[in-house]
Parts: sequence; structure tokens; C-alpha cells
Amino acid sequence: MNSRSGRRDQLIAEMGLGPVWSRRRQAADASSAQQPDLLAPVEETPSVPAAAGQAPSAIHLEAPPAAPPASEVARMDWDALQQAVAGCVKCRLCETRTNTVFGVGDRKAKWMFIGEGPGRNEDLQGIPFVGPAGKLLDNMLLAMGLSRTENAYIANVVKCRPTDENGRDRAPAPEEAGACMPYLQRQIELVQPVVLVALGRTAAVSLLDLPPDSAVGKLRGQVFHYRDMPLVVTYHPAYLLRRLTEKGKSWADLCLAMSAYAGQH
Ligand code: URA
Repeated sequence: MNSRSGRRDQLIAEMGLGPVWSRRRQAADASSAQQPDLLAPVEETPSVPAAAGQAPSAIHLEAPPAAPPASEVARMDWDALQQAVAGCVKCRLCETRTNTVFGVGDRKAKWMFIGEGPGRNEDLQGIPFVGPAGKLLDNMLLAMGLSRTENAYIANVVKCRPTDENGRDRAPAPEEAGACMPYLQRQIELVQPVVLVALGRTAAVSLLDLPPDSAVGKLRGQVFHYRDMPLVVTYHPAYLLRRLTEKGKSWADLCLAMSAYAGQH
């Protein structure tokens, strides 16, 4: 056992996944898996300082920058897409964000993991899944032979943090998710993953166009398709942190996703 796989086994144990599943051949090749027993705001026109002693002459009121239409987003390259997200004012979430949270990972990844939207930590850092749920996601990736920088790309349905009236994290409203979807759709087209994993309800219903109150418990354990890509739904890591007993089900979902991956080769 090399030190890397030793570390992975340790992480699997920390996740409470029980007997160690070890990968024999390629990353996430399900055919070799042993079954574990059980896881701008409206942009203000900058005020032009009047020269000393002069009355301000003309105040230039500019219209807020128009959000690019979905048809334009659908043709963007990575740089243009990232810029469009950074300046997006398509919904009110832009008014309270610190940073937009675009996505992270290997842009040529075969695996894409899709979460809901940034929380407080992500909003502050501008990077998806950097809080406790992110640590669990990192461990899940590691158990699959993946990492943020190796063969996995991580993005969210919405790119700005949704908060409630008390400033606490909340799920995005359907119209917020809808406004942001063209960005995620373009990210998926650019990455061209082999398999998608929807982490939680928001990702599942947004990608599969299901009723917003669909239950993850009813969606998990089966292979859907987004366009022609296999898509597996599993519990959101934040939910797993609250319901540790569900980790085994999530691991079964990831194994299903690995089988779907293997079936694409
Ligand atoms: N939850 C998500 O869905 N996404 C993040 O980036 C962080 C927490």
C-alpha cells in the first residue's frame, strides 16, 4: 500500500464507511470495486469628483449592465463565462454577495459534482465547498480516487450565496436557480464530463427539471440522464453531516455512479 492509498483508507475510515473499498485499476473504475459492507448589485455609477471649486456638471447615469442572454452564455468560453458570472446581476442574490462562486477543479474532468449554492465560507472565499460539507465532499472524492484537482470538477446551481432575513444560509428559490442555470449548463458543456453527481435536492431538481419538492430519498439509487450523460443523485454532504447514518446510502450512490462511469467505456 503506498502512502497515498494509506491516507485514503484512513479518510474512508474517518468517514465511517467501514471496511475499506480499494480501487484496483483506474480512478473510479467500478468494475474493480470491492463492495464495502455498508457512504452588482445594480452598478452605481461612480461619482465623478468635481474639480475643486467647481459645481458638478453632468452626472452620467448609466443603465445597469444587461445580463447576457442564455443564447450568448451558451457560446461562451471559460474566460467569458467566468467574467459573466463575476458581473452577474440577473437576480437579487447579487445584492448581498461578497464573491461569486464560479466552480473549481479539473476543467477536463470526467466527473462533475454539482451542489446547491455557496454558503458563508464559500461566499467569503469565492470557492465552492470550502466549509465542513466541503471537507466531507473532499473525502468522498478521495474514496473514489478523485480530488478537486484530479478528474473532478465542482460547481453549484447558483453562484451567489442565498441568505434568509436573518443572514443565514438558505436554499435558492426556483427563480434564482432558473436565472443561474445557463451558467451551470455552459460549465457542463465545457467540461463534458462522463458522469454527473447531483448533491442534494436543488441540484437534482434543477438538472432534471423535477418538481421543487422532490425528495432526494426517492431520487437516489437510480441512474438518470442529463442530456445524454448519466446523472446520479445523492444526499448533500451538509445533510450527511447532520444524518451520519445516511453515509452508507451515499456511498452506495457513488458506487452506482462509478458503475455508470464504467458503463460509458
Ligand atoms: N453547499 C453547496 O451546495 N455548495 C457549496 O459550495 C457549499 C455548500
